[in-house]
Amino acid sequence: MSASLLKVRGLSKSFGGLRAVDSLDLDIAVGERVALIGPNGAGKSTTFNMLNGQLKPDAGHIQLNQQIINGQASEQMWALGVGRTFQIALTFQSFTVLQNVQIALLSHQKKYFNFLSSNIKNTIDPSIYLLGLVGLSDQANRPCSELAYGDVKRLELALAISNRPRLLLMDEPTAGMAPSERKAMMQLTSRLVEEQKMGLLFTEHSMDVVFHYADRIVVMDQGRCIANGTPNDVKNNSLVQSIYLGASAQHITL
Ligand SMILES: Nc1ncnc2c1ncn2[C@@H]1O[C@H](COP(=O)(O)OP(=O)(O)OP(=O)(O)O)[C@@H](O)[C@H]1O
Ligand SMILES: [Mg+2]
Repeated sequence: MSASLLKVRGLSKSFGGLRAVDSLDLDIAVGERVALIGPNGAGKSTTFNMLNGQLKPDAGHIQLNQQIINGQASEQMWALGVGRTFQIALTFQSFTVLQNVQIALLSHQKKYFNFLSSNIKNTIDPSIYLLGLVGLSDQANRPCSELAYGDVKRLELALAISNRPRLLLMDEPTAGMAPSERKAMMQLTSRLVEEQKMGLLFTEHSMDVVFHYADRIVVMDQGRCIANGTPNDVKNNSLVQSIYLGASAQHITL
């Protein structure tokens, strides 16, 4: 059994009278890939937003590597080892791929962005290393605006792991991708999770991706966890079938 990385107990968040997340327990081990799935409004994004510090929980604990981290702001969560993929809007389109990674590295160190300063020169080697990890070395000097969609997603992943997170959060990592790109993206993510000894929590509407790349699947409905198990367990769970997977469960190949 791998070492415990994330331990969440009793996590809750209400909006007015609506219990968006209701006493959620969640565990992730080092090297484990966990998918969080469920119908619209189940509470997946609210859970993510509490884990990355965008929302304060009403109750419960979030423990990362034995340290209680809930209630911290996004920046502190990031510094404590919770990484997440950034939206494309956060990349600087006219800057090169390499420069975008350099800017991310400098921002972790809270250093002033100045491309003439020695600070930025010190980020060249680590940035090239990160681009190598995600297979973007040959695109380093291209402006981001010229990247193909799949390469933008790779860059987002490089930015997400630039702070060496322990827990990586990905909200719909393959949304908008062609099937071949999805496969490449999830294979890359899986390799990085293993190599960098991270834990991965991802949401995804593509059940093909979920059932092929998750080691474990947590199913939410109306703020509560209704199932938690291996892809095979979840596929055969009658409650999950009736609430979420429906007839499509028969078409999931494992
Ligand atoms: N800021 C907010 N204010 C009020 N209600 C909210 C807010 N954010 C989410 N909710 C509500 O909380 C519930 C859970 O929403 P959440 O976005 O976490 O669901 P989700 O599982 O991510 O759904 P989806 O699959 O559609 O992305 C929904 O009923 C939603 O309308
Ligand atoms: Mg959502």
